[in-house]
Amino acid sequence: MGEARANGSVLIASNRGPVSFKRGDDGHLSATRGGGGVVSGLSAVADESDMLWVCAALGDGDRAAARAAPGGLLDPDVTGDSAAVRMLDIPPALFQRAYNAVANSTLWFVHHMLYDTPNRPSFGHGFAREWEAFRRYNEMFADALAGAARAAADGVTPDGARAPGAGGRPAARAFIQDYHLCLAPQMLAERAPGIPIAHFSHTPWAPPDYYRMLPSDIGREVLAGILGADHAGFLCRRWANAFVDCCAEFLDADVDQERGQVTHAGHVTSIGVHPLGVDSGRLQARAAERDVLSRMRALAEATAGMQLIVRVDRTELSKNIVRGLEAYRELLRSRPEWHGKVMHVAFAYPSRHDLPEYREYTAAVQRMALQIQDEFASPGWDPLLLEVNDDYARSLAACRLADVMLVNPIRDGMNLVAKEGPILSDRGCALVLSTEAGAADELGPHALMVNPFDISETARALHEALAMSAGERQRRGAALAAAAAAMPPTRWFRDQFDALDRLPVA
Ligand code: F6P
Repeated sequence: MGEARANGSVLIASNRGPVSFKRGDDGHLSATRGGGGVVSGLSAVADESDMLWVCAALGDGDRAAARAAPGGLLDPDVTGDSAAVRMLDIPPALFQRAYNAVANSTLWFVHHMLYDTPNRPSFGHGFAREWEAFRRYNEMFADALAGAARAAADGVTPDGARAPGAGGRPAARAFIQDYHLCLAPQMLAERAPGIPIAHFSHTPWAPPDYYRMLPSDIGREVLAGILGADHAGFLCRRWANAFVDCCAEFLDADVDQERGQVTHAGHVTSIGVHPLGVDSGRLQARAAERDVLSRMRALAEATAGMQLIVRVDRTELSKNIVRGLEAYRELLRSRPEWHGKVMHVAFAYPSRHDLPEYREYTAAVQRMALQIQDEFASPGWDPLLLEVNDDYARSLAACRLADVMLVNPIRDGMNLVAKEGPILSDRGCALVLSTEAGAADELGPHALMVNPFDISETARALHEALAMSAGERQRRGAALAAAAAAMPPTRWFRDQFDALDRLPVA
């Protein structure tokens, strides 16, 4: 058994952790790597010595693992990570309210502007109870982080105040992730005064005119929660500006644009833009492993002689998969010259199936795929390959073979696939990219940009991408890959670390 380290001086908190557990038929718990952009980014920096990662137990397997571990601190031999992992055993009903009802059905919908407003949202008595659960969930994280901060201070400052470590540095810094934990920074600041706190939003931020849909006290509580941090990070300038605009409008906070600071209730929060990119070496090494190579062979055989348009997404409302398929259908209708010469490989993996909207969306994706098959498939040609079961190695294989990547979200914090695709593509791929993805800032100059609601424009961009000369595609693909690798996770994290270290000592 390895020895778990509890005294992390770098404290990470996120809803989804780096590992998740399932109980097999034989009753044994087996561990797999957690998914999503937050985990991809942070796993690459988990080699930092002295890191403690606090996360929630998401399902029954996780809860069993957390209960079996002393204090929820998982055995590093099991997690396979060099960071110590503390999994919080949050009561299932409380977790459901906090994660499904508030984080995913409310905050996610607001920031991605997903509401069908004639019908939703409606905030009534039930929501007050859900919000209370969300507060409690954030408190559980704040308590765990405050306990770890005190442990890191090693008894030097029992009151939890900033404890100088080596070279006068604080004994611990906390890095709190995403909208699930938007209240935790303020709660942690109250529990462990003086500990440097960074919060990072992996989603877009809603502009004030959409954000005002939240009940006004709750809208203010979320903003004040994040402003409890010393540094608030965002994936692109547009989301950072929207956050600052909301602070000015709903909290009457003092905004210093030049310095990039927001002052509220006497506390200063610096605002940073940190566009998360890809560790290209690590990704390419993974994509050269045997399981990927065997899937490449199978896919290349099934698609011989055709150009591949590839997309890889969670089946997520904001990813706009149905309109992507409609655009492909319009391409095939308007440009019959592509019949028999192109295949759309669409991997749409299950996500958030506890929410009815997501189950319906998955069904809509499948219906549209069937329509395309019905209209165009012929004995010698399959126009579409849709897979809805998760297979990471198969996704990597498809990206390596891609001629065109289609990434057309309605709205997306960053969209790492837009960066991973060009890095992986063997021949260099063209990228059809939504203007509403955070990645548009960095990749826009080399991609074919589309309005995600404009199916005809997307169809025309797909045609342009397929018709592009090999030289032009290679040139663009190389530029995309370079931009995608410019801010690897270690640098992304280091910049936030440095932002905290630039703070005046309290
Ligand atoms: O990257 C944004 C994000 O919401 C992460 O916070 C999250 O882990 C990921 O997408 C996937 O969502 P979920 O954890 O709900 O499956």
